Amino acid sequence: MSKRDWNQSLLEQVAAYAAAGPDELSRMANISALLYKEFAWHWVGFYRVVDGELVLGPFQGPAACSRIAFGKGVCGTAWKEKKTLIVPDVDAFPGHIACSALSRSEIVVPVIDRGSVTAVLDIDSVQKDEFDERDREFLERIASEARPVRSSLERYITQEIIPRYDHFDQGHDRRHVLRVIDDALALSARYRINPEIVYCAAACHDLGLAEDRKTHHLVSGRIIREDTNLRNWFSAKQIETIAQATEDHRASLDREPRDIYGKIIAEADRQIDVQTVVRRTVQFGLDHEPGLDREGQWQRCHAHLMEKYAEGGYLRLWIPESPNAARLEELRELIRDSARLRALFDRYYDQFA
Ligand code: SME
Repeated sequence: MSKRDWNQSLLEQVAAYAAAGPDELSRMANISALLYKEFAWHWVGFYRVVDGELVLGPFQGPAACSRIAFGKGVCGTAWKEKKTLIVPDVDAFPGHIACSALSRSEIVVPVIDRGSVTAVLDIDSVQKDEFDERDREFLERIASEARPVRSSLERYITQEIIPRYDHFDQGHDRRHVLRVIDDALALSARYRINPEIVYCAAACHDLGLAEDRKTHHLVSGRIIREDTNLRNWFSAKQIETIAQATEDHRASLDREPRDIYGKIIAEADRQIDVQTVVRRTVQFGLDHEPGLDREGQWQRCHAHLMEKYAEGGYLRLWIPESPNAARLEELRELIRDSARLRALFDRYYDQFA
């Protein structure tokens, strides 16, 4: 088994190119080139998960097959099993896809982002038994640099942005922003757009709460424009896109968000869960209008739900096929069924009053 020199300078080069790569394709291209040159392997490259199959991405070496199905070959199996596969002898791997007759051994490392495989890094050698556990360890680290969101950006957001939510109210705490990030990234997977912009806008959307609740969306936009750190990852134009997406995220916005980024953040910020919406409405009434009796609270609750969520209400959903759209329909049915809504109201009233 070859003992490779996983030298620091190679790893630093990978990290530097990865930090500078504005999207996953450019990072994959440089990672392939650096590994191919350093170790003279037969083939080094990426397959990306696109529309439910692996599609050939940036690579170095002979031309290779363009598509691989889930569970097929070494690549499709690594995707399915979400783990690195070391194949010491490709002839002994059932279903191995021979893109080149010269390949004798192979390693396939999945790129995993938030629990999902987004791509695989595939390396072929003309020697049998080329890859070992040490290679796995380093290649897993390197492959993680090909995730849709750069690790340096994720570190900045995790260390410098997310902790600011610890000072906000319960409805806008760390749990809230982490959920909005996850939902926004999940929604964004349907579109060919920049996942780092989605990630950053979702992470920053409520930062303005530090100054003012009413205008917090606008303050968030200002904070983003003033954050010079973001220039490490984004162009001036992209920073403007991020700022505008946060400015457009309010449910009460009287116009359409300016672009798909604003629509995604607005959509991810809506938590239309029928029970939660009613519970929070009851709680809000009790907190803000404590003078009202049960009937008064019921009127207020009903009026708010009508005004915001009923047909013609001010809530707008911008992504019609989102999970929210289905839940809004469920909520509207409840609002139409006055007796059932009243029963739910009474339950929360008795619980919190
Ligand atoms: N051998 C791979 C196919 C890709 S090529 O080797 C570049 C497999 O079995 O998945």
